Parts: sequence; structure tokens; C-alpha cells
Amino acid sequence: MPGVKIHATARYVPQRAITNDEISNWVDTSDEWILQRTGISRRHMSDGENTSDLCIQVANKLLAKAGLAADDIDLILVTTVTPDYLSPSVSCIVQSAIGATNAFAMDLNAACTGFVYGLSVAHKYLASGMCRRVMLIGAEVLTKYIDWTDRNTCILFGDGAGGVILSADANRQYAEKLHSRGAMPITVSHQQVINPLCEGDREMDYIKVDGREVFEFAVKSVTESISELLKTTEMCVDDLRYIVPHQANRRIVEGISRKMKIDMSKFFINIQNYGNTSSASIPIALSEMMENGLINEGDRILLAGFGGGLTWGSILLEI
Ligand SMILES: CC(C)(COP(=O)(O)OP(=O)(O)OC[C@H]1O[C@@H](n2cnc3c(N)ncnc32)[C@H](O)[C@@H]1OP(=O)(O)O)[C@@H](O)C(=O)NCCC(=O)NCCS
Repeated sequence: MPGVKIHATARYVPQRAITNDEISNWVDTSDEWILQRTGISRRHMSDGENTSDLCIQVANKLLAKAGLAADDIDLILVTTVTPDYLSPSVSCIVQSAIGATNAFAMDLNAACTGFVYGLSVAHKYLASGMCRRVMLIGAEVLTKYIDWTDRNTCILFGDGAGGVILSADANRQYAEKLHSRGAMPITVSHQQVINPLCEGDREMDYIKVDGREVFEFAVKSVTESISELLKTTEMCVDDLRYIVPHQANRRIVEGISRKMKIDMSKFFINIQNYGNTSSASIPIALSEMMENGLINEGDRILLAGFGGGLTWGSILLEI
């Protein structure tokens, strides 16, 4: 399959950072427990900024870095489970805000696999010649949907956005395999919550996670997904510069590393600073890796997403 060229990467997180110690003032937990069980030290929390606000910051940075004008973009694709509204889509709000008059715009929901699914869709529009340049952004304000009295979930998630501008490039390698299996261990749904921080009960949409089930699903599905992609492309781990997993829990990555006998240094991890930012985690990682010179032209990387739906999948691409 022809590949894609990444013209620019960018990220944006809300200014406010919440430490584990701060959360331990709200629920029965500790910095030590959170760090040891998840690898998370802090996460960012929006103070009124919505998902589209985060995306607009990323979109403007992307255009500046790529040296492109807004009307050079043919498609704006936003992956999110936390849109501002049911309609209009976040991508349409971004299109209007940056003045991308030639672009069509749509959102895609594949939970924490969102960026991987989004990259797959972007790739098809580019490979078919229907689009010349695609702006792909993964963005979430997950803290809108957190029950701050539930220690099983409130420690895990953070807000943020990351994105890329892509064009087709037949000389770059690209391979993918995506999966779905409808099941409910991770949901964002209507719940009644007894909330001691507020007056009485509250009914709202909250994130609910069966931590242990998701943990086991993640280790198994990502292991299989990486092996499957390496087999189809007839490559081995040494052919990859980095594996960039969705950042949900450091111990999930350690589990994959043990199971596949791949050294931890092969995996990029930045969960300590962001928590789980769902579909934003992989593009935030890519942006940091580019900025720090960890990946360069010609390097092959493997992106591995997994999350609600259930959804999972991997993409191998050449930078
Ligand atoms: C949620 C998660 C961190 C829990 O870690 P774990 O090692 O599996 O912990 P367990 O669920 O086995 O719970 C162990 C104990 O710690 C307790 N515990 C749970 N959260 C806690 C917290 N924040 N602080 C202190 N104790 C906590 C549990 O109540 C349990 O106590 P018990 O043994 O008395 O019942 C882990 O399962 C995980 O990360 N799962 C994936 C979740 C996720 O990322 N979902 C989205 C994926 S895209």
C-alpha cells in the first residue's frame, strides 16, 4: 500500500495540571498507589475549554509548522468521544474557526483507538487521490465525564489534543489491521451517582471501566495485533524504531513487553505527564517524539491503539 507523509505534528493540553496528591484529597488513594499501578504522575484538566478549543489550538500550530494555509486542507478529521455537541461535529467547528474553506469535515468515534482508525480513514482518502492534504486531530476533554468520587476511574484520565497534517507518498511504507468486537467493559453512559461533593444524587454521563477486564483485553489484543502486522509485512521488531502504544497504563505496556519479549526501550511512554487522553494519546506522543528527534525521516514506527467499543488495531508507517 502507498504510504503517507507527515508534514507536521502538534499538541496542546490545558494549562491546569492535576497531581496524584491533589486527587488523593478527593478520594481514598495516594500518589504511590497511582504511580505504581498506572505510571501516571499528573494529567491536565480543562478549565472551561471544550474539545473544539483544544483542536483549534492544534490546527493553528499544525498549519504554522507545515507552512500551509487553511485552504490547502481538503479534509479535517477529528477523532473524539467527547465532542462539544451531538451536532455540529467538532471538525466542522474547527473548519469554521481556521477558515478551511476547501475542506470537508467529519468526526470519528473509536474511543482510545480513535487516532489509529482516523489515520486509516485519512490514508484511504489520500491513497485514492480524493484528498491532497488531510488534517487529522485526536482530541478529548474526558474530565467532563469523570465521577470524581470513583477512585477506579478518576485517577486514569486527562484532557489533551494532538494532530498531524498528512499527504500521500507512494515511496513510504504503510500497513494496517483494525479490529472491533462489541462489548461493554468501558462505557461513557448515563449513570446515577451518589456524590458527596454535591447536594444529593447526580445523574450524568460518566466513564465506567472494568479495569481488570480492560487490562487483560489490552495486553492480549495489542500483543496479537503487533504480531499480526509484523507477520503480514514480513518484518521483525528490530525493523521498527519505536512502538507507540495508546497510553492507558504503563503496566499494560510492561505486560506486552514481557509477553512479546520486546525490551521496554522499544515502547514510547509519556503517560506520566498526561494520564490516558484516549484518542489524543498517540498524536501527543508523535508530536513529542518528533520535537525531541526520537523519530526521523525513514524510521518505521508501529502505532498500537486499543479501547472502548471494543476497538483495537495497529498501523505500521514510515516517517
Ligand atoms: C484501573 C486499574 C489501574 C486498576 O489496577 P489493578 O492493579 O487492576 O487494581 P484492581 O482493580 O485489581 O484493584 C486492586 C485494589 O485496589 C483498589 N483500588 C482501585 N483504585 C484505587 C485507587 N485509585 N487508589 C487506591 N486503591 C485503589 C481496588 O478497590 C482494589 O481493592 P480490593 O482488593 O480491596 O478490592 C487497572 O486495572 C487499569 O489500568 N485498567 C485499564 C483501565 C483503562 O485504562 N481503561 C481505558 C482503556 S483505553
